[in-house]
Amino acid sequence: MSTLRPALSSMLALLGSTTLLPSMAAQADALEQQRQDLQNFQVIAHRGASGYAPEHTWYAYDKALAMGADYLELDIHMSADGRLVAIHDTTLERTTDGHGSVKEHSLDELKALDAGSWFNQAHPEYADDAYADAKLLTLDDVIDRYGQDVRYYIETKSPKDYPELQDALVSKLEAEDLVQSGAVVVQSFSQASLQEIHDLNPDIPLIQLLWYSPGEDGKTLEEWTGVTPSPANITDADFQAIADYADGVGPNYLYEGEPVIDARFIEQAHANDLLVHVYTINDKDRMRRLLDWGVDGLFTNFPDRLKDVLAEAE
Ligand code: G3P
Ligand code: CA
Repeated sequence: MSTLRPALSSMLALLGSTTLLPSMAAQADALEQQRQDLQNFQVIAHRGASGYAPEHTWYAYDKALAMGADYLELDIHMSADGRLVAIHDTTLERTTDGHGSVKEHSLDELKALDAGSWFNQAHPEYADDAYADAKLLTLDDVIDRYGQDVRYYIETKSPKDYPELQDALVSKLEAEDLVQSGAVVVQSFSQASLQEIHDLNPDIPLIQLLWYSPGEDGKTLEEWTGVTPSPANITDADFQAIADYADGVGPNYLYEGEPVIDARFIEQAHANDLLVHVYTINDKDRMRRLLDWGVDGLFTNFPDRLKDVLAEAE
């Protein structure tokens, strides 16, 4: 991520102008500060502190921020009435008492669901009666609560289901001044989604997610949507094609407990000017190994564990 995006470059060029408004200069500084911060290691709270509280609820987000996470990770779907909703799955069954697809329900219907009781059953060691009142949240809710005081790491989920998602998301981020204030990263497994966002606003830092798993032969790793070949066969040209629109890559580390990337993958991505943010790491020994390999950030359900590991390394 060594190059400044065109729109930011234009804004910085204006810094020499005597007619530049002070607020514009402050915004350019804020976006540049975010880009500098991204060169340092980032703690990304995966669905909030979702190891300790029901994912994508106030409980998980507030805990993540209290633990000192650098970014709140949000997975975004759309309701039937076009609202941006923070939820991971396409369907409601796993994390609510609802049924069917998110996109088949209005926001009012989604807001009526219990989004926390499932956690108490799945994770009795961290259960809390209060979680039974947890509700699904919209992106509006989250931004209304935290504003520009927090950085958001937003994933566009299932963009083929919601062709209008990119436009709605960028419009919201711009309306809330979250791009120029350096408060947002957008990530996706969909190359098309990221390219559309890049076209809409080239200042938004983007991360291309990658999912490696064995192909039909049960051995050779394949990337889910074909964004890259197997990690063993990635060329600089493959990484450069991603660097045309994105600032980094977000690969899985493990498939069924076995590593799918190694130190060489990270080195090669860096050589091609790409950040590497690896998901989803909850084990301290794995965090230490990936830190040794030079990753630029980790997604974790347990931000406090990652902060502990970082403190050890200081
Ligand atoms: O966004 C990084 C990681 O969260 C991708 O996997 O399935 O947890 O959204 P998933
Ligand atoms: Ca995600």
